Order: sequence, then structure tokens, then C-alpha cells
Amino acid sequence: MFKTAIVGCGAISKTHAEALRSVKNTELVALCDPNTEKVDIRAKEYGGKVYSSLNDMLDNEKIDVLHICTPHYLHVPMALEALKRGINVLMEKPPAISHDQFAELKKACKTTNAKLGICFQNRYNGAVVEAKRIIEEKKLGKIIGARAIVTWSRSGVYYTESGWRGQIDKEGGGVLINQSIHTLDLMTYIMGAPDKVTAQSSNFHLPGIINEEDSITAYLEYKDKTAVFFATTANCKDAPVLLEFYCENGSLRLEGNSLKVTYSDNTSDFKDYTVRNETGKACWGTSHTLLIGEFYECLEKTKDFPVTLESTVPSFNTMMAVYDSAKHKKSITPGEII
Ligand SMILES: NC(=O)c1ccc[n+]([C@@H]2O[C@H](COP(=O)([O-])OP(=O)(O)OC[C@H]3O[C@@H](n4cnc5c(N)ncnc54)[C@H](O)[C@@H]3O)[C@@H](O)[C@H]2O)c1
Repeated sequence: MFKTAIVGCGAISKTHAEALRSVKNTELVALCDPNTEKVDIRAKEYGGKVYSSLNDMLDNEKIDVLHICTPHYLHVPMALEALKRGINVLMEKPPAISHDQFAELKKACKTTNAKLGICFQNRYNGAVVEAKRIIEEKKLGKIIGARAIVTWSRSGVYYTESGWRGQIDKEGGGVLINQSIHTLDLMTYIMGAPDKVTAQSSNFHLPGIINEEDSITAYLEYKDKTAVFFATTANCKDAPVLLEFYCENGSLRLEGNSLKVTYSDNTSDFKDYTVRNETGKACWGTSHTLLIGEFYECLEKTKDFPVTLESTVPSFNTMMAVYDSAKHKKSITPGEII
């Protein structure tokens, strides 16, 4: 039986707690949040002893897995605290808010036997799994270009009420590091990190409310001349994410969790993999349950969990390159630290 705990009892913690209900051999023993109202709500729904400090919880409970569902700036320090005690960690995205934090976490992973998994759950979406399989089979030939568009609805209240969103020291950025990081991760999961990133950022919808970006356009170039156009901005509605890969002999269009494959003779196959979301916003998808289930299965069977910190290097470095390019108004190579 794995004894589990959740730190951070806000919006996404419900998705973790609900997913844990469906994972056998787990028991949610403790919950931690300095906000007593929030932690009490989760404890009432899912059980577990209540704490207001992570260190108190780790000192007093025997925990096998810590789920980190706190604001971005706390991910790395909290993961370090757990890993050094030999506690496995399943951490929400982003993996870090700076190159320094990322490097510190990488170092900690090398000096512990505990496992670290990152919640990039969209890698488990049916449409993504199938698209990756088709691309790797090279049925459609090589990718010659791609585009990605993320237009979700995030109001001023979403930022101002949180106490951390839209603040550089707490969130690490704006729309890119919080929402469209998922799509950048899928892009690089399928295509790898680009060799050159040129980006611009703006704040069209929320000036005076947040100081960070609510919109980004980025041009990602690969050595073989393949290029990706990536765009994200706030919208009046949560529109499904659009990801399109153009290949030598056809194309793949992912919209939300549907996939349309078009072949060179103009015939196509379409499948919608959408599963109804019961516990969170529809745009979060339903793949947390799949990712969390696999994390525990890997622990139980001592297998390698695929969504490691190392696996997020391409998307993390690309994200940081987008920010640096927009800030310094020049092209950046992912991994370059300026
Ligand atoms: N994977 C996804 O699709 C997805 C979706 C939503 C959020 N998230 C991620 O989950 C994390 C939390 O987001 P959210 O929307 O739930 O935010 P939230 O603001 O609703 O919840 C964060 C919680 O952390 C608590 N907290 C703050 N400091 C703490 C501390 N020192 N110790 C313990 N708890 C503390 C806050 O009181 C709050 O209850 C973020 O990293 C976010 O990016 C991921």
C-alpha cells in the first residue's frame, strides 16, 4: 500500500485526489495547505490528516508519494524537501520557473533513489498517443512543418484572486508557463527541441492586472529547415487546442482530443478520443488519471516512469528560450542561458 499526501489544496488538487481513488494500493493519508478552508474541504471529501506546513507533514507522517499541487515557485523547493527524505514526488507542471531551479532539481534526482514524475498529462491523450505513433512509424514521411494555437479564456479575476498567477516571482511568467506550456510540451515531445527560437510577447487583454504576457507568438526553427508557428492568447472562450503536423505524404490535425489524419490521396481518417471530464475544467482533459495510474504502476513494478524531469528538458528549454527571445528581442537556442 502506497501512503500518499497532497500539498496545495486548490483547484487541481481535486483532480489528483479523485484520480487517486481509482488507483489501487494507495491511501491518501495527509493533506497540506496554509489555507485552512481549502485543506478542510479536501479532507472532508477525500480523507487524510490536515497540515498547514509541508515540513510538519513530512516530519509526522510516513509518506511514500507526495503530490505537489502548489503555485509554480514552490514546486522545486518542495520537491527537494521530499526527495532528500527519499519520498517519491509527482509534481504539477511546470518543472521549474528558472534554469537554476531546473538544474537544482536535476542534481537532486541524481542523488536519491526516490522517483520524480511531472504532470504533463496531455502526453496520455488518445489523439496524442496515436499521432506520435503514426509520426514515429514514418507512414506519412518526415514532418515538414507544424503549427500550434492555444486560445483559452482566463479573466482578470483568475489572476487577481489566486495570489500568485501573473506574478513573475511566483508564476515565472504568464500564459506560456501556465497554460500553453502543455502544447509546447506536446510539440517538442513529438518533434524534439528546435535549434532556434524567435518570439514576441504582449499583454493585450490584461494590462494593469498582470505584468506578464497574456499572448505569445513564436517561430521555432529546426536545422533541417522545418519550422513551427506557435501562438497563444487569451480568448472569450476555452477553444480546443489546435496542433497540426504537415508531413511529406499527408498531415495530422489534433483539435482538442480528436485526430484527423489526411493522406496524400486526400482521403482521411477521423477519431474523437474525448472523455467527459467530471472533476476539473474541460480544457485540462482527463488524462491525469492515466498519468497518475502509470506513476504508481511503475513504482509498484519498479519500471521507469516515462514523464521524468529529463523528458521535460526539450519543452522547458524551449519555453525559456521563448521568454528570453521575447525579452531580449533576438533569436535564442534552447538551453542557451543569457
Ligand atoms: N496539469 C494541468 O492541467 C493543471 C491544471 C491546473 C493547474 N495546474 C498546476 O497546479 C498547480 C496549482 O494550480 P491551481 O490552479 O490548483 O492553483 P490554486 O491557487 O487553486 O491552488 C494552489 C494552492 O496551493 C496553496 N499553497 C500556497 N502556498 C502553499 C504552501 N506553502 N504550502 C502548501 N500549500 C500552499 C494555496 O493556498 C492554494 O490552495 C500549478 O502548478 C498549476 O500550474 C496544472
